[in-house]
Amino acid sequence: MGEKKRIGILTSGGDCAGLNAVIRAVVYHAVGTYNWEVIGIKEATHGLMSDPPKFIQFQLETLDNLKLDILDNLLLMGGTILGTTNKGNPFAFPMNDGTLRDRSSDIINGYHKLGLNALIGIGGDGSLAILRRLAQQGGINLVGIPKTIDNDVGATEVSIGFDTATNIATEALDRLHFTAASHNRVMVLEVMGRDAGHIALAAGIAGGADVILIPEIPYKIDKVCQKIRTRQAKGKNFCLVMVSEAVRTEVGEQVSQIQQLGEDRLGGIGKYIAEQIGAKTGAETRVTVLGHIQRGGIPSPMDRLLGSAFGVAAVDLIAEGKFDQMVAWKNREIVSVPIAEAIKTYRTVDPKETLVKTARGLGICLGD
Ligand code: F6P
Repeated sequence: MGEKKRIGILTSGGDCAGLNAVIRAVVYHAVGTYNWEVIGIKEATHGLMSDPPKFIQFQLETLDNLKLDILDNLLLMGGTILGTTNKGNPFAFPMNDGTLRDRSSDIINGYHKLGLNALIGIGGDGSLAILRRLAQQGGINLVGIPKTIDNDVGATEVSIGFDTATNIATEALDRLHFTAASHNRVMVLEVMGRDAGHIALAAGIAGGADVILIPEIPYKIDKVCQKIRTRQAKGKNFCLVMVSEAVRTEVGEQVSQIQQLGEDRLGGIGKYIAEQIGAKTGAETRVTVLGHIQRGGIPSPMDRLLGSAFGVAAVDLIAEGKFDQMVAWKNREIVSVPIAEAIKTYRTVDPKETLVKTARGLGICLGD
């Protein structure tokens, strides 16, 4: 069993469904199997940056006395009970006086002040890159777990949150289907995914879209309109168009919006596509932007399963003393890969991959 360890866990970057399933698995395995202590760090690296650090301690003994085990509820809960942030790079941290300061040493000190033997960081490529830099600089024994609805972390076939987001986008398309048919409308659904079209492609196929536009495959609006006209000629006067948020306008402009705190976020391409279709075909169009609905809600069974498997495997890596590694899902099993390697490649849709062939085989227009 070895020496009793004290490990930390934090969630970083945008939230998604399945994060709490990871936390639950880490606590069950680390406390239940190894008899270690688990410290949940609040609000990503911000919790370690604070003095004193902000954290909660997970104790199975207390929970064992309760009728309903709170940890069990974590399987059903969206978001992250630890809180998270996708703002404030600790190496150039925005201070109240408007300046940027390197706060990396505060975070590293927080880790050592808590007496942690290792840290499990759940994040996407950006968060894992920052955590790795902190780990290298400050002697942090880091193990990474990939999460992101965008499913763009290299080295893993799937990340936590993607399946739930895809389910939600599919359900949205299912719902739009009937109203589109009832009104003879072209319904455009814009989904998230950052620069990767995984959600749009998967949910588009599963939800029976007629057109799927993803950033990896350049499109011509005339091809999209041709598809709509072909359907109209067959008496099908409605159409479902799935658009990924990073798709550009025909002249190559990215559509984004500046948010309240100054961050630039993708969004709005669905409106452009709908306007183009309306103008060129005369069809009545409507746009739905699914937005953060894809990140919330009850995690799908697949995300609970993946979260549980990743959590257990991350704890085992710590037990084996294997750090600077990320757990990954490959060929129906969990493997570990160096974090540096995992974040080197940004996993976008390969225009030659199976799902693209599937879409083409089904007659779905990809705009090219
Ligand atoms: O990376 C996850 C993601 O949901 C992207 O799909 C989306 O572009 C972005 O985060 C939205 O960020 P925010 O939560 O800051 O609006």
